[in-house]
Amino acid sequence: MKILGIEHVGIATSDLEKGEVFWNLVLGINKTHTEEVENQGVVTDIYDTGNGKIELLLSKYPGSPIAKFIKSRGNGIHHICLSVENIDDAILELKKRKIVTIGNTYSIGAEGLRVIFIHPSSTGGVLLELAERKDVD
Ligand code: CO
Repeated sequence: MKILGIEHVGIATSDLEKGEVFWNLVLGINKTHTEEVENQGVVTDIYDTGNGKIELLLSKYPGSPIAKFIKSRGNGIHHICLSVENIDDAILELKKRKIVTIGNTYSIGAEGLRVIFIHPSSTGGVLLELAERKDVD
């Protein structure tokens, strides 16, 4: 597969306003996107550094993956997302190498990205998201 770079770092938070104070007012990074991602049970605020993004993730309901994560580990880095050239090729290769993915096919994430998550058991302890952007910058 071809990895194009780091797309974003996903951070679980229980307070998007506090996040805005730090990431926007203190660091001066523009918030470029806000979206509810139904299939992940989150509201996400995206801050774009121009060279990789910060994705703040707020749980929409108790029992969502982010709510469970915060309950066991607290707020903090939840996943890292790498950009791939072609998500279908990437998934085929992961399957061939018996890498444990969450779900068998891509789903549509924030900003319309085609995404799949790789289980931490296959990556050395980090939840890793792969994402293909349809429209090339
Ligand atoms: Co993400």
